[in-house]
Amino acid sequence: MSFDVQKVRADFPVLAELINGKPLVYLDSANTSQKPNAVIDAMTHFMQHGYAPTNRSAYQLAAEATDKFEGARAKVAAFINAPKVHEVIYTKNATEALNLIVRSWGTANLSAGDAVVLTHMEHHANIVPWQMLAAERGFTIRWVPLTSDGLLDLSNLSTLLDGAKAFSFTAMSNVLGTINPTAELCAAAHKAGAIAIVDACQAVPHMPTDVQAWDADFVTFSSHKMVGPSGLGILWGREALLDAMPPFLGGGNMISDVKLEGFTYAELPAKFEAGTQPVIEAIGLGAAVDYLSAIGMDNVRAHEQDITVLALNSLNDRFGSDITIHGSTDAALRGATISFAYRDVHPHDISQVLDQNNVCVRAGHHCAKPLMRLLGANATVRASFYLYNTPSDVTALCDALSEAGDFFTL
Ligand code: ALA
Repeated sequence: MSFDVQKVRADFPVLAELINGKPLVYLDSANTSQKPNAVIDAMTHFMQHGYAPTNRSAYQLAAEATDKFEGARAKVAAFINAPKVHEVIYTKNATEALNLIVRSWGTANLSAGDAVVLTHMEHHANIVPWQMLAAERGFTIRWVPLTSDGLLDLSNLSTLLDGAKAFSFTAMSNVLGTINPTAELCAAAHKAGAIAIVDACQAVPHMPTDVQAWDADFVTFSSHKMVGPSGLGILWGREALLDAMPPFLGGGNMISDVKLEGFTYAELPAKFEAGTQPVIEAIGLGAAVDYLSAIGMDNVRAHEQDITVLALNSLNDRFGSDITIHGSTDAALRGATISFAYRDVHPHDISQVLDQNNVCVRAGHHCAKPLMRLLGANATVRASFYLYNTPSDVTALCDALSEAGDFFTL
């Protein structure tokens, strides 16, 4: 282990909670992560001592709130190595960030005869907005297929990208845990003359992120999966692309001037930030970035790789042919998100028995129904690990699964 996990656990108050007298085993971080005191305290302190609107009022409290809000943006920019701080846009969540790209960039650039390339492992947030615009504009969507071990099948990628205007893909699958070769995929998109859009929701919280090394055009992710608060997503985009795009939502904050005849819009980032801003949440995300940076994202990744190897080995050793783990068996190619089927027991039944042992997993389609169809399943059980999980959490998962197996044998 590359850091003291027990010390990290002590930073997360909910992990010390007992439910029905038993400890909590939180294995649902791909869904949303738990929050450390550093984030809780930063938000509470700001609400108690510094709360005020941003970018509007001239009094000292508001100016200080604006400085903190913009300071958090600078922290996020540094965390992902964004070239310019004003290329970082606050959104409601990552889903809104993807919708912003599709509605703003897509409406300006896509029409009948065009093509956009997605992959078969995308979350609905990177499928449905494209389908909505395609129904209006008449462009086609092409799909990168998967190999039998849950990797992208890139054998036909140049043909799929031929003539496409955008390639939008996940950096890491929220179901299979597959880590995609993001820089290689961005390079392939650019070679074909397409822009590269990266859904990095499952990557940014778990490994170092460098948008310049990826050479991406847009990157989206959410605060709540990286120990920050919910209600906040991030869109990073290249300045030239963001400058050329029309605004997404209209209202206060995003304008330069408004007359009866029309409006002009503000410079970046305000152009894409209509309305009252999520200042408390931004301060929480800034604290989350500080927290993760102090641990080191290489260390987070190394820890999760160790846990992944242990979990894959333990599940296979204890359950053998009773368990089917989806995705790659190579921990170097995947993150710590493990989806599986157990005999023919319905995932919801499994998760209910796990819950009796306070083992929290997600059971369902994980907002990735096309991938579920490919797996031939309606749903899977998904255990997802993070920096605060320990080998004893893996044992607790296996013990509870064993109990579920006994229960459903009767
Ligand atoms: N995208 C989140 C998940 O995979 C909600 O669970």
